[in-house]
Amino acid sequence: MAGGVNTPALAAAVAKAGGVGSFGFTYTSPEKISADLNATQALTVGPLNANFFVFQPVALPDVAQQAAALLALRVLGLPEDFVLQMPQAPFYPDLETLLQPVWQHRPALLTFHFGIPSDAVMQQAKALGITVGITATSLAEAKQIEAAGADFIVAQGTEAGGHRGTFEPDGADAELALDDLLRLLVPSIRLPIVAAGAVMDGADIHRVMRLGAVAAQMGTAFLCCDESGASPAHQAFIRHEHARGTAFTRGFSGRRAQGIANQFMTQLEGQTTLPFPIQNTLTGPIRQRAVQRNDGEHQSLWAGQAYAKAQALPAAVLMQRWREQLLACQQA
Ligand SMILES: Cc1cc2nc3c(=O)[nH]c(=O)nc-3n(C[C@H](O)[C@H](O)[C@H](O)COP(=O)(O)O)c2cc1C
Repeated sequence: MAGGVNTPALAAAVAKAGGVGSFGFTYTSPEKISADLNATQALTVGPLNANFFVFQPVALPDVAQQAAALLALRVLGLPEDFVLQMPQAPFYPDLETLLQPVWQHRPALLTFHFGIPSDAVMQQAKALGITVGITATSLAEAKQIEAAGADFIVAQGTEAGGHRGTFEPDGADAELALDDLLRLLVPSIRLPIVAAGAVMDGADIHRVMRLGAVAAQMGTAFLCCDESGASPAHQAFIRHEHARGTAFTRGFSGRRAQGIANQFMTQLEGQTTLPFPIQNTLTGPIRQRAVQRNDGEHQSLWAGQAYAKAQALPAAVLMQRWREQLLACQQA
C-alpha cells in the first residue's frame, strides 16, 4: 500500500507470521526504498514484496484544463494564502531508477499495478530470481500478463481499496467483483492467481482459495493494526465511520481509486481533474495539510468495501487468527 501505510514493522510482522510483507513503493524515493528494505530485512528473512505502478508518460493538459483543475480544488475552502502549484515534468521518477534498490535488495516478490513493465524489467527480475506478479481486473488483462511472462496474477475485484488496477486509465472497466473475476480467470489462465478485494479474515481466504486462488492479498485488513502507518484520521474513519461506505474518485490522484467517502470526494465529483500522477502531485499539499490537522475530510482514506471488519490488533495476532479460521474452514 503506497503512501506510507506499509512500515518495516508491518511488513516484517507479516513475513514472520508466514505471509509476504509488502511495500507500495510508488511515491517513494530510491533512498527511502533502500532504507525500508534494509530495515525490514534486518527484522526478518521472510519473503517481502516491492510494488510499483506502471504507466505511460503524461503531459500537462492545456492551460484551460489546468485552470479548471485548480479552480475545482478551490471549492474545498482552502485558506486564501494556500498556494497550489501546477506540477512540472518530470511528474514521476523513472521506474528503472526506482527499481535500482530492488535489484540490490532482491525481495522475493516484485509486483506491478496499472500495467506490464518493460521486457528488460521482466528479464532482470528473472535473472535475479525475483518472482513477478501483475494486477489484472479482467480476463483480457490477465491474458496479456500471462503472455508477458509474469509468474502470477493478482486478481483485483471491485471491492478492493486503493487504485483500480485497470491498464487503461480512461478505458472500459469490466467492473467485476472478486468472486466473478476468479470464476472467469481460473479456467482460462494457467498462472497462479492471488485474490484481492475485501478479503478480511480466514473464512474469506478459504472462500477465494476454493474458487481457485492460491493466496489472498489483503490491504484494508491491516490498516488499523498496531504497525500500520495509516494516519490517525484514516484509522479513526476505518474504525468508526461505517455508515459512510466507500466510493470511487479521481479527485485525489487522477485515476479511479476507492476509499471511505469524504467531503473532498463529494466536492470534486464531476469536476475537472488532471491525469495521474499530475493530479496526485497537485493535491499532495492539500492532503498533507489534512493529515497534519487530523482532518479526515480532505485526505485520501483508501479502503476496501469491507473496511468495517478491519481490526486494531498487532499484525502477528491478526495473521494467527486468520490462520486458525482458515484451518477451521478447511476441516469443516
Ligand atoms: C491504503 C491502500 C493503499 C494501496 N496502495 C496500493 C499500491 O500502492 N499498489 C497496489 O498494487 N495496490 C494498492 N492497494 C490495493 C491493494 O494492493 C489490494 O488490492 C487491496 O487492498 C485489496 O483489497 P482490500 O483493500 O479490500 O483488502 C492499496 C490499497 C489500500 C487500502
